[in-house]
Amino acid sequence: MDFRALTLIALGAMALAGQAAAQQSPPQPWMDATLSPDARADLVQAQMTQDEELLLVKGYFGANNRQSWIKPTPKEYQPLLPGTAGYVPGIPRLGIPALKESDAGVGIANNFWLRPGDTATAYPSGLSNAATWNAQAAFDGGAGIGQEARDRGFNVMLDGGINLAREPRNGRIFEYGGEDPLLAGTIAGAEIRGIQSRHVISTIKHYALNDQETGRTLITSNIDEASARESDLLAFEIAIERGSPGAVMCSYNKFNTIYACENDFLLNKVLKGDWSYPGWVLSDWGAVHSTIAAANGGLDQESASGFDAQEFFGDPLKQAVAAGIVLPARLHDMVHRILRTMFANGLIDDLAQPVTPPATHADVAQRSAEQGIVLLKNAGAVLPLAKTAHSIAVIGGHSDLGMLSGGGSSQVLPVGFDPDKQLMVGGPVIVLPNGAKVMPLSREIFDPPSPLAAITAMAPQAQVRYADGVDQKAAATLAATSDVAIVFVQQWMTEGADVPNLSLPGAQDALIAAIAAANPHIIVVLETGGPVVMPWLDKVPAVLETWYAGSGGATALARILFGEIDPSGRLPVTFPASEAQLPRPKLAEPPAGYWYVNYTEGSDVGYRWFDSHKLTPLFPFGFGLSYTTFNLTNFTALGGGNVTATVNVTNTGTRDGFQVVQLYVTPPGQTARLVGWSKIELKPGETQTVNIEAEPRLLARYDAQVHVWRIPTGPYEVSLRTSATDVKASTFVSIDGGTIKP
Ligand code: BGC
Repeated sequence: MDFRALTLIALGAMALAGQAAAQQSPPQPWMDATLSPDARADLVQAQMTQDEELLLVKGYFGANNRQSWIKPTPKEYQPLLPGTAGYVPGIPRLGIPALKESDAGVGIANNFWLRPGDTATAYPSGLSNAATWNAQAAFDGGAGIGQEARDRGFNVMLDGGINLAREPRNGRIFEYGGEDPLLAGTIAGAEIRGIQSRHVISTIKHYALNDQETGRTLITSNIDEASARESDLLAFEIAIERGSPGAVMCSYNKFNTIYACENDFLLNKVLKGDWSYPGWVLSDWGAVHSTIAAANGGLDQESASGFDAQEFFGDPLKQAVAAGIVLPARLHDMVHRILRTMFANGLIDDLAQPVTPPATHADVAQRSAEQGIVLLKNAGAVLPLAKTAHSIAVIGGHSDLGMLSGGGSSQVLPVGFDPDKQLMVGGPVIVLPNGAKVMPLSREIFDPPSPLAAITAMAPQAQVRYADGVDQKAAATLAATSDVAIVFVQQWMTEGADVPNLSLPGAQDALIAAIAAANPHIIVVLETGGPVVMPWLDKVPAVLETWYAGSGGATALARILFGEIDPSGRLPVTFPASEAQLPRPKLAEPPAGYWYVNYTEGSDVGYRWFDSHKLTPLFPFGFGLSYTTFNLTNFTALGGGNVTATVNVTNTGTRDGFQVVQLYVTPPGQTARLVGWSKIELKPGETQTVNIEAEPRLLARYDAQVHVWRIPTGPYEVSLRTSATDVKASTFVSIDGGTIKP
């Protein structure tokens, strides 16, 4: 029997139970949608037993057990499991549905089970999303993901990855929003709002400073409070303000020596105290280490309890409450947070029900990829390609299969995926006794359609030929006999492991050099999780960064290659010239037994580190080329209480194009920070006036003694840039100074 049938039986059973309860139980005043979410939660809580409260604060792995170390989910819930990340039983007698939790940021991660047809849209990676610099595109993607979730019966998406890119080798960098707190917070907040617009709760994760995969469950991320508040925590703060995520997922690592999921400072003081966060804190899978410390430290729900060393929030929590070590009011608060958030996000009034077939959104994914692809180099305007090209060589990177995706819990089995056609690279597919196929979590999966097909469709008159690039000589011969060679190179990243360095793996650098020697008309297409180094850069005229571009990626790329649209992505991370430029030239991999990373760079993450150390990167944060040209004129900035700026932007070229106008402020004695931006599309000759107001916390430093943001009085340099290092105009304004409460 497949899981949808089971889900329907379960829903039927719930409905019957609900009907029976409705006959016996008092009317349910909390179903009055005109009341506030808090009032509704209070009303339903007044009817709950303590055992029912305890039920809501403990979750289970949502798929049938696949690994011996995961403790099995109790038998009574097995038929109800959604077949993916998590499940928290509901209370049918009170009309409270179960929480059905799915990963994550690039679509419905359906890789625990595979049934024929159970595929979903693969959206572009989180870093691609950030590279759009376009909150509307992020919202649209989120709304698409939210719809696909509810069409499969999920009501919680474990989305909202926002760990700052302090470590470009981080195996999950592709899931996150880059190195800048304002950009990451704005984009993640918009995506979360999009998801929740479909009455599906989104998390934000992994709170906090889970900035590398190496030793992620052992490591302590050490950083001073002010630096954390000005960087990683600020990204969360902005995303929470803009997106109102229903839940925050605390991370695996320790923060300043205390596990994040029992960290009073992170959870009680900052999140629930300073930020007045009304939602609930759920743990990452296997990130709980205690009952009392976690409950009193601010954790509200133990996720997938079978992943933890022991169950912490079931009977142990009941005993701790009975002993008065965890106060009943604290248990009540945990449950209140969960229920009020379910009411606030429409989970109870608008139940997520599986539909057949569930929605897919290749068009939304494509539009997002189109905005996220970054043109890094275009010497001699080799791009865009003419559709009349006679012969095109497409080389390498399995570009006859699809666009590469990242591995781990966020992996989506994309629409068009067929395990029997092996659109993936790696170990065996596990075939279950019922015929279902299980994908191992960390695999290279290629999202169809293939770039080869998309390029062929775009240039029907051209002879488009493919070489896999394994045989470099054959590929070079093909390139030499073609008008243009498009070479696909890749860096595969996955949850659970960092990459050892920023070089393209295998012989890919050599492949590019060989093709460049055979044909100077070479276009390099990068499909990478994050930044890579490019020893061949001066040998090639054109480079495009497509990140992990998803189900719409190949079409988006082809449209950009042939100039149907302007490339408008801008880098959300600095590309270093070499690893020697990083705060940690080597990945933090201390000796076993004492795991730590000291983030001594403080809040100087990414471009701020490069600026304060006078380092010239390969490509700066914010960088990206267009097919047209722009003039920025009449730049003016005003000071006083905050910085505001105005500029006229004119498209001086002959094609439609996008400009991303970036405003940076340099407070006295400090380095420049991005304080706002505007992405606009202009027709040839068109002029638009752009107004930008600074995010005031970016003018400030956090004072950890007094607990305020302190804006010093003085002259601030305000500059208009097209990347962190490309200053187009600058001026000084006088700022009054003052404080902002956190
Ligand atoms: C990941 C989370 C994910 C969870 C559930 C964990 O390993 O860190 O991001 O949501 O698994 O799959």
